Amino acid sequence: MSDDTKMVVGQRKYAVFGNPIKQSRSPFIHAEFAKQTGISLQYRAIRVELDDFDRSVTDFFKAGGSGLNVTVPFKEQAYQLASRHSARAVRAKACNTLKPDGDGVYGDNTDGIGLIRDMVANHGWNLRGARVLLLGAGGAARGVMEPLLRESPECLVVANRTLAKAETLAQEFADLGKVWARGLTDLSAELAFDVIINATSAGLKGETPDLPDSLLGDRCCCYDMVYGAEPTAFMRWAAENAAWAVSDGLGMLVEQAAESFYIWHQERPDTASVINHLRGSLA
Ligand code: ATR
Repeated sequence: MSDDTKMVVGQRKYAVFGNPIKQSRSPFIHAEFAKQTGISLQYRAIRVELDDFDRSVTDFFKAGGSGLNVTVPFKEQAYQLASRHSARAVRAKACNTLKPDGDGVYGDNTDGIGLIRDMVANHGWNLRGARVLLLGAGGAARGVMEPLLRESPECLVVANRTLAKAETLAQEFADLGKVWARGLTDLSAELAFDVIINATSAGLKGETPDLPDSLLGDRCCCYDMVYGAEPTAFMRWAAENAAWAVSDGLGMLVEQAAESFYIWHQERPDTASVINHLRGSLA
């Protein structure tokens, strides 16, 4: 789109809906992407009441909104609300990115590709042929299953406190590769892994799954999908047990935002500068 057209169209409106939402970095990230690409937009973080999600989305798009991100706890509801979905959203059964689609709403999910881009492109980790352990079987784990399996790991073990949930996930994605389910406490006799990803919400409560250090293979890379000013308990466990590389989920946050930005604007922003800037502001 030319600059002239942008001026005629005016400032397009975007937002992230969540509850809570105060902590959201998405307005900052999208403002940085907009600066880089010269796109004129407004992006706000909006706290939506728990029983008011569908109406809020409909009203936002009726009022001319061009795109929405959706975060906790509305991603599954966003999936239900969307009238058309990307294939990866269908697999995740959750949407974090919405845009108007005729009379309806198109829903996508960029979380998984965000994780893969951060691990593979930013950190240079190898997933092809790797033995991967995914901790957790909730919404966060489900959202990354398909993109992880598309990287052709040797195997993907889903380990969860509640075994039945891991089994459900493993069955659902069995067509995409070798996926096994384990209970968290059954991991001690397990093989060692090349990549371990923490998708549990334990860290948010200051807890960490009790994991044996034998899980860490040679040059094991450990990724926590959450981030904060301090390393999480999982990251500390990995570092104390001589993991080869350890990362939090800040890069995933920026990469999923970049993919949403691409869906809305068909332009790929530079993510490294934004990750660095955010990293500095966390310290
Ligand atoms: P999210 O959308 O963040 O994935 P969720 O769907 O509520 O949230 O899932 C939370 C995940 O963290 C689950 O896998 C949960 O395990 P259970 O299915 O057994 O509940 C896991 N989890 C939460 N607290 C945990 C803890 N202290 N130790 C281990 N796993 C934990």
